[in-house]
Amino acid sequence: MKTLEDLFLDELADMYDAEQRLVRALPKMAKAATSPALQAAIRSHLKETEGHVTKLEKVFKAFGKKPKGKKCEATVGLLEEGDEIASDFKGSPAINAALISAAQKVEHYEIASYGCLHEWAGLLGNETAAGLLLTILDEEKAANESLTGLARGGDNQNALGGSHENEPESSAGKRPGTVGRGSRTIGAGGGSRDRAIAD
Ligand SMILES: [Fe+2]
Repeated sequence: MKTLEDLFLDELADMYDAEQRLVRALPKMAKAATSPALQAAIRSHLKETEGHVTKLEKVFKAFGKKPKGKKCEATVGLLEEGDEIASDFKGSPAINAALISAAQKVEHYEIASYGCLHEWAGLLGNETAAGLLLTILDEEKAANESLTGLARGGDNQNALGGSHENEPESSAGKRPGTVGRGSRTIGAGGGSRDRAIAD
């Protein structure tokens, strides 16, 4: 008979795999963004994501287990979709809105997962694990809110094509589709566009 602890450890392994995939994917998403503020937000969340991997290792330890990942199919799918949308909208004024939507889908998945893990850790009486998971949950919520702020602060408006206020100065005045270094695609130079984010 499987127990709540089995369920907890299964989901924990899922998120351990998801976070490691995100550590590999976020730098590529940042490169694909043309909004400097969005690039900065993604890179800042990359640092937090690296911290999530470490915190999850501590959660495993708090349960007396060795860290173990289990392929997170949801994250693989979300990152593949993000890769596809980044490729489809490369050079478009809507590229930043597209990347924000892809990133927010990942954040919402993480918020749902960590919300459950935090509750379960509490039910299982492991306060150390519950505390670590709550810290991660709060950081995912903050990351999601900062993406909403960027969308409302200009990136969605820019997606309409009439403004370049969030783009690098060098790109101002160029027609949509030639937006400076932001026009570099995810996976540029690697020839592996289809799997660049999902890895
Ligand atoms: Fe995370």
